[in-house]
Amino acid sequence: MRHKHSDYMHWSKTQSRARFNLATSGVASFPLPELPVDLKQLEINGDNSYGYAPLQQAIAAHHGIDPECVVESAGTSMANHLAMAAIIEPGDKVLIEHPAYGPILDVAHYLEANVKRFRRAEENGWAIDPAEVRRCITRNTRLIVITNLHNPTSVLTSDSVVREIGDLARSVGALVLVDEVYLDAVYENTPRTAFHLGPEFVVTSSLTKVYGVGGLRCGWILAQPDLAWKMRQLNDLYSATPVFPGELLSVAAFKRLNLLRERARGIVETDRKLLRDFLVEQSNLSAVSTPWGTTSFPRLLNGNADAFLNRLRSKFDTSAVPGRFFEMPNHFRIGMGVNTEMFAEGLNQLSRALILADGHTI
Ligand SMILES: Cc1ncc(COP(=O)(O)O)c(C=O)c1O
Repeated sequence: MRHKHSDYMHWSKTQSRARFNLATSGVASFPLPELPVDLKQLEINGDNSYGYAPLQQAIAAHHGIDPECVVESAGTSMANHLAMAAIIEPGDKVLIEHPAYGPILDVAHYLEANVKRFRRAEENGWAIDPAEVRRCITRNTRLIVITNLHNPTSVLTSDSVVREIGDLARSVGALVLVDEVYLDAVYENTPRTAFHLGPEFVVTSSLTKVYGVGGLRCGWILAQPDLAWKMRQLNDLYSATPVFPGELLSVAAFKRLNLLRERARGIVETDRKLLRDFLVEQSNLSAVSTPWGTTSFPRLLNGNADAFLNRLRSKFDTSAVPGRFFEMPNHFRIGMGVNTEMFAEGLNQLSRALILADGHTI
């Protein structure tokens, strides 16, 4: 039987909610009335067979590339699916980072790829080590997949390392898929997309995580024109045509992109400061801190993380994402940027649960 589901997505849709929800990865919703759009002008149908030109242009302008290289998709989820499905054939070797965002692995398995892994080591700050990629790549590798920022850790991979990965890929005729859905959560000196680094790069992203307009499902792939066309045609077998009102609203969001980003930034940065102070106090947690991103991935030093998170949810009404969804069962992921009051109380509940787990009474 082919792999046809995502344990993480199912958990996220059915088990992740709590009064104090630290199981998020995206920022607070941006209010619709603040988008520069006259809702009376919204249309249901429009000219968007292979994408709506003004939206493709907005995405292209955002990245400083040619609209020919932009493929619209339903979120980064469909972007990753389309990109991988267009590039690989069953049995092709695909090298994916470890730990990885579960649905990326699920799609690769669904497409019957021969999935290999390269390790991002916690002791190395979760950095990508090009020597490790070199050790794992072979003449048969067709695709290397990374996330930048890394989900779950929010670690940034520098252009020079991304370029090294590109050189390795090129040396065996492979491509590199870089999922950049969190990259714009680097608020200072935001790196340019890896798409500029060479033709071996295919990039996926969306407005879903950093901008607070996830419901628009505005996602995209950046690919060389031939490959971009392959993806558009493949999409004829999936969602076929984008949702036109969503495209109109997405164009409006691009007009105010900085405003959307800055609003979220305030919350993300306040939450990050709270998280830093919290982590300093915790003797049972270890975490690699980053100055950017919307997630952090602490490790529970003593005790079973799954049991701890179950208790955290049932007794403290607080949720976080179990590390098992990233193949790291002693860790868990905390999300920032939704609501600072809720975040602060979530950390407070987390610290009470940690005291209890330590054998103290509360
Ligand atoms: C690395 C990564 N890629 C893709 C996605 C899916 O994003 P979207 O909501 O744009 O489909 C997520 C969502 O959490 C993610 O973390």
